[in-house]
Amino acid sequence: MSTQRQPDSTLEITATPYHLGIIMDGNGRWAQARGLPRLAGHQAGVDNIRRILEHCVHRGVRVLTIYAFSTENWQRPPEEVSGLMRLLGLTIQRQLNELNNNGVKILHSGRMEGIHHHLQKQILNALEVTKHNDRIILNVAFNYGGRAEILDAVRHIIQDGIAPEQLSEELFTNYLYTGGLPDPDLIVRTGGEWRLSNFLIWQAAYAEYYTTPTYWPDFDEQELDKAFAEYSQRERRFGRVLQK
Ligand code: IPE
Ligand code: IPE
Ligand code: MG
Repeated sequence: MSTQRQPDSTLEITATPYHLGIIMDGNGRWAQARGLPRLAGHQAGVDNIRRILEHCVHRGVRVLTIYAFSTENWQRPPEEVSGLMRLLGLTIQRQLNELNNNGVKILHSGRMEGIHHHLQKQILNALEVTKHNDRIILNVAFNYGGRAEILDAVRHIIQDGIAPEQLSEELFTNYLYTGGLPDPDLIVRTGGEWRLSNFLIWQAAYAEYYTTPTYWPDFDEQELDKAFAEYSQRERRFGRVLQK
């Protein structure tokens, strides 16, 4: 039997990530290419979440973390920032029922501080309403920054009076916003950049990375399958030597 790898064009998915992280990038350029305002790109981006979420369920992904707004994104023009905030509120309002009916458990990773009070309440309500669901976890990284997350964890560790010798990687991990979730297995970035942009910098230490030039609103089921096919070919060694 040939041990040669399948050519790239062959979609062979033999492994799917348990936890998939997606850096949903390229909304602005998608809109620009169509002569539309950037916010139209963000709306199209939000609309795309549902089909990718459904395909993740179909492929057996158990946790999907989506990067929706970074701590650095506050530096964008005020109209874009307020538009993105409004979009999250509207999306929760419009889609919470359906997500809940479909067994989606919603989690939030990020700082609550800085988010408008009303939106905070909507987020907390979405977590509460869906907390018993178990078909898939949709973890929304919103007002999320990996460095902020690490500092927040350190603050809480100090507040809890944890002694230096008690500190372990496992304990530290539990203090992160993602506490309780396994590390991501695969990070997908749309929009063509080869960087993490402060996404899950602690948790992604051993994640596989995949990037595609496709803008997020155009990233469909076939594109996700391509990422899974590529992931299937990766040999995850975690620093060890594998016995063949
Ligand atoms: C990603 O799309 C969504 C957010 C950062 C909120 P961008 O808005 O960054 O799109 P580009 O990178 O400008 O095309
Ligand atoms: C990363 O995209 C953040 C989100 C997708 C929410 P950015 O567009 O903000 O990242 P940079 O600025 O290209 O690094
Ligand atoms: Mg971008």
